[in-house]
Amino acid sequence: MDLSTEIAGIRFKNPLLPAAGPLTGDDTKMKYIASLGVGGMVTKTISTKAAKVPRPCIVATRDYVVNAELWSEYGPNEWIEKFLPGIQSLEVPKIISIGYSKEQIEWLIPKLKDFGDAFEISTHYVGKDLDPIAEVARTASKLAQKPVFMKISPHMPDPVEFARVVTRAGASGVVAVNSLGPAYYVDPKTGNPPLGSENRYGWMSGPVIKPVALSIVQRIRQSLDIPIIGVGGVKNAEDVVEFLEVGASAVGMLSSALIFGKEQYKRVVDELEDALKKRAYKSVRDAIGKKLETHRADFTVKNPIVDLEKCTLCKLCEYVCPYFAIKVTDHVNVDLNACFGCGLCESRCPTRAISGVLQ
Ligand SMILES: Cc1cc2nc3c(=O)[nH]c(=O)nc-3n(C[C@H](O)[C@H](O)[C@H](O)COP(=O)(O)O)c2cc1C
Ligand code: SF4
Ligand code: SF4
Repeated sequence: MDLSTEIAGIRFKNPLLPAAGPLTGDDTKMKYIASLGVGGMVTKTISTKAAKVPRPCIVATRDYVVNAELWSEYGPNEWIEKFLPGIQSLEVPKIISIGYSKEQIEWLIPKLKDFGDAFEISTHYVGKDLDPIAEVARTASKLAQKPVFMKISPHMPDPVEFARVVTRAGASGVVAVNSLGPAYYVDPKTGNPPLGSENRYGWMSGPVIKPVALSIVQRIRQSLDIPIIGVGGVKNAEDVVEFLEVGASAVGMLSSALIFGKEQYKRVVDELEDALKKRAYKSVRDAIGKKLETHRADFTVKNPIVDLEKCTLCKLCEYVCPYFAIKVTDHVNVDLNACFGCGLCESRCPTRAISGVLQ
């Protein structure tokens, strides 16, 4: 199966990229991540000065990560003299992540541009005003003479307007999204917030943010025909397909490789073909944008239908129903007058014995 994809004229052998972060923080790490089969490389964000990173700076549960990492802990000289020359032999497209202000971008791009195929520009720490962001996009596109992708953070109030403004200013596309927050994580074992950052704040990422990221990618792509790298909460190959379906042309992943281990990149790449086949796609490109249709709100109430062959009488549906409409005895009784058609029981039933409510 053809797993290749193309973004702004750059061909990737498959759509999975490492999202900017600690796993792509130097050349040794990037070579290892490339060896796991990813389709391209995205560096940790480089700025004009090394970041002074508070410690501890990463905590994780099975469902999310909270980090206080800022950008690269190495200054531009290490990147220019060692890390970027060190990855030139990699046979995948290289996207150099940089940040943040117009002045910093002006200083960085001429020094870095020969080492990469494209730039990704983080807008994480520059506020919500779109004018300076557009200015950065304009400056970067002029100086780079190669594709520039502006990375949006989920706290931006209007993602479509962000994408419109940066592409009008010359950017080739967007990366959606960065981590969500600020977030305040408390360790359940100690009752204390463990991060070393100011006020102990961090940024949240990983599987729980996937629905937020999918919605932002979809909203942008429904309004604008631009290349999007979808990022946020990817854990497996099915998630990659979901991002393609809402309009992403490539897909980044980081937190799941922090939660489950770096080999997660290999697992996702290995499973991608099957995940595409399961949804009857013939290639990666075939899946892109297949779920972009708009949907009018539906107010029809549908009630659950219970398949007693599959039901184990576990009672979960009774416990969770917010409208007190289910009673489980030696079968499942649904009070049709009380049922609101909310769908929760169907989504929570562990044996898929309930159908008829969700679309
Ligand atoms: C530990 C950590 C460090 C990160 N560092 C950067 C960074 O330097 N630049 C950047 O643009 N995004 C950074 N991110 C955000 C990720 O690239 C990504 O956009 C976000 O985590 C959502 O994807 P995920 O859920 O797959 O992790 C970082 C995320 C984590 C968890
Ligand atoms: S949650 Fe599902 S399996 Fe459990 S009692 Fe309800 S219908 Fe049966
Ligand atoms: S659809 Fe909602 S209201 Fe109806 S039985 Fe299920 S959980 Fe209760």
